[in-house]
Amino acid sequence: MNNSQELNLREISNFAADIHSNFNEGHDFEHIQRVVELAKELLLDYPQADEFLVLAACYLHDTYDEKLFDDSIKQKEAVKEFLKSLELDEDIIIQIFSIIDNMSFAASLDGKAPLDLNGQIVQDADRIDSLGPIAVTRALQFGWYHNIPLYNPEEVAQIFTSKEDYRKADSSTITHFKERLFLLKDMLNTKQAQDMCFERDKFIRDFVAAIEAEWVMDNPALLNDEKLVIIRDFAYNTHSENNDGHDFNHIRRVAGLAQKILETYSHVDKFTVLATVYLHDCYDQKLFVDSLEQKVKVINFLSKLEIEQDVIDKIIYIIDNMSFSANMDGQKELDLVGQIVQDADRLDSMGAIAINRALEYGWSHSRKLYDPSIKPRHDLSKDEYRNSEGTTINHFYEKLFLLSDKLNTEEARELAKGRDQIMHDFVTGIERDWIEVS
Ligand SMILES: [Fe+2]
Ligand SMILES: [Fe+2]
Repeated sequence: MNNSQELNLREISNFAADIHSNFNEGHDFEHIQRVVELAKELLLDYPQADEFLVLAACYLHDTYDEKLFDDSIKQKEAVKEFLKSLELDEDIIIQIFSIIDNMSFAASLDGKAPLDLNGQIVQDADRIDSLGPIAVTRALQFGWYHNIPLYNPEEVAQIFTSKEDYRKADSSTITHFKERLFLLKDMLNTKQAQDMCFERDKFIRDFVAAIEAEWVMDNPALLNDEKLVIIRDFAYNTHSENNDGHDFNHIRRVAGLAQKILETYSHVDKFTVLATVYLHDCYDQKLFVDSLEQKVKVINFLSKLEIEQDVIDKIIYIIDNMSFSANMDGQKELDLVGQIVQDADRLDSMGAIAINRALEYGWSHSRKLYDPSIKPRHDLSKDEYRNSEGTTINHFYEKLFLLSDKLNTEEARELAKGRDQIMHDFVTGIERDWIEVS
């Protein structure tokens, strides 16, 4: 590139940065910067490509995307005006728009014009960033931001034949993986991109398979107790608005896991296990500004339900002593009832669903996903752990990777098999694919 091209590219980068600063749903400027860096890597193998054109198209490729803008036509005009202000050759401007208009997955469904080598490199770079662990975080974040359900076991993935059908679909995030992201590897243009995507493609497939395998919801029909149904409703009302990984589906999964563990412990007091499960996050310090007030509310609710005082005391003792942080300054004793509740909760902090939960917690608390310069800490006290300003990836090292050794029951250890692996694959993949952008 010559000097004026470099200066123009800097202007284009600033222009794109401005536009993407408004997006925090998988289309932030970091995505754009990664696509640029990936294209640079691909360009090393294609010296005949037009570097300026490729990089300019990378920077601008999502600046008037239909998914992101209500009026994408008006937005495209603004991009055109901006490019004209740089006094680029008319021909270059036409080529940039031609690449962007024809590169997307949706555009390819309508049989748009084939891309030349420059367009193929831009398209491959964008598709590489739609595969792998970082792509999983992007897809999950898009779903989280737009309130799209994570998974619906009843849903069947569709094969789209037109852009219109694809745009109209309201699939869950996991079905979206099957309908779009699973297809990308075979749609890559360059051999280099294909080589770069082998591990990335494998990861997204493993991730989806893990979500499906882990999906265990409570079965309200098995409750057989009116008071448990009322307690479950109380939990629903407490968690229904939550979006930081402690939503009612977390509670339902923990109850479902507890019901599974209980199958082998027929002599255990089922009522206390399930009542504790439903209430276990109802006055969590992380979730409530005044957790003490919330705790009093829970106790009053149980008293009103005419639950015996010793059962209430037991439920509250387990909740107060079961958490990871409660056990940091010394192991707390729990009986089998408490151990089952603790195991069920810990299982939902392990695996692919736990990856989603950790990410949700990070997004809702504006945590960084990853920063190689912030190292995970070990042997933390409860206070140090609570006052953590760490990254989401460090949370795996500081808590989630430690859970498999802390399970109480054989059944939980059995259910945990494989859950550790997907979390390690995720973290290793993020570290491997991370592209440091300023
Ligand atoms: Fe993109
Ligand atoms: Fe929990």
